Amino acid sequence: MQAIPILLLVGLTYVSPVSGIREIHANGTFSNRKYYSSINVSNGGPWGTWTWIDMCPEHFYAMGYSVKMEEYGGASDDTALNGIRLFCIKINNTSSAVFTVESDSGKFGQWSGITWCPTGFLTAFQLKVEVPQGILDDTAANSIKFRCSSGAIIEGTGGSFGDYGGWSNACTRGGICGIETKQDPYHNAFIDDTALNDVRFFCCD
Ligand SMILES: *[C@@H]1O[C@H](CO)[C@@H](O)[C@H](O)[C@H]1NC(C)=O
Ligand SMILES: *[C@@H]1O[C@H](CO)[C@@H](O)[C@H](O)[C@H]1NC(C)=O
Ligand SMILES: *[C@@H]1O[C@H](CO)[C@@H](O)[C@H](O)[C@H]1NC(C)=O
Ligand SMILES: *[C@@H]1O[C@H](CO)[C@@H](O)[C@H](O)[C@H]1NC(C)=O
Repeated sequence: MQAIPILLLVGLTYVSPVSGIREIHANGTFSNRKYYSSINVSNGGPWGTWTWIDMCPEHFYAMGYSVKMEEYGGASDDTALNGIRLFCIKINNTSSAVFTVESDSGKFGQWSGITWCPTGFLTAFQLKVEVPQGILDDTAANSIKFRCSSGAIIEGTGGSFGDYGGWSNACTRGGICGIETKQDPYHNAFIDDTALNDVRFFCCD
C-alpha cells in the first residue's frame, strides 16, 4: 500500500496537564487492581498472543498515551505499531507522580511524545489495522485514537497503513486504568514480523 502520512492530530497540540513529569513504570506492580470491565475492538490483527495485564495504581486513571512506532522502512520488514504506553494520573491530584503502564511491547521503533486528554481520562478507543497482505509485508496495527471522558478525541503519531475499525465499547464510570497487548513475538530476520496486533483496556471505578 502507498504510504500516505496521516496527520489527523487533535491531541498533539495540547499542553501537558501535569507539571514536571515524574514517571514511574508500574511494570506489573498493580496488576491485581480490580476492574469492572474490559473494552476491545473487533478489527485487531490475527497474529500473536495475549501477553500480560499492566494496571495503574488505585485512584489513578490513564489521561495520556504514547506509542512505540517503527518508522516506515520501504523494502524492509515493517512492523508499524510496537507498543502503547498509558500515562496514569491520580484523580483530583495532577501534582502526584505519573505512573506508566504498557503490557508487552515489540522490540522495534521509538517512543513518541505523549498525547493527553485536555481534561478527563481515556474512556474508549479505535485501532487502525492493516488487513493481512498475503505474500506482501504485513504490519498489523498501525495507530490508535482515544476518546476522553470530556468527549475530546485524541490521536498522536501513527503508521499510514490500514484503516480504523469501529469504536470499542466505553468505560461507563471512572476511566481506562490498565492495558493488555496482543503481540506477534519477534521471529527472525527472514520471517514477516508484525509486532502489536491487538489491544484491550480495562475500566476501573
Ligand atoms: C517489567 O520490566 C522487565 C524489564 O523491562 C520486563 O522484562 C518485564 O516483562 C516487565 N514486567 C511487566 C509485568 O511489565
Ligand atoms: C469485544 O469482544 C467480544 C468477544 O470477542 C465481541 O463479542 C465484541 O463484539 C467485541 N466488542 C467490540 C466493540 O468490538
Ligand atoms: C474528586 O473530585 C470530585 C469533585 O470535586 C469529587 O466528587 C470526587 O469524590 C473526588 N474523587 C476522589 C477519589 O477524591
Ligand atoms: C497530591 O499528591 C502529592 C504528591 O504525592 C501530595 O504531596 C499532595 O498532598 C496531594 N494533594 C492532595 C490534595 O491530595
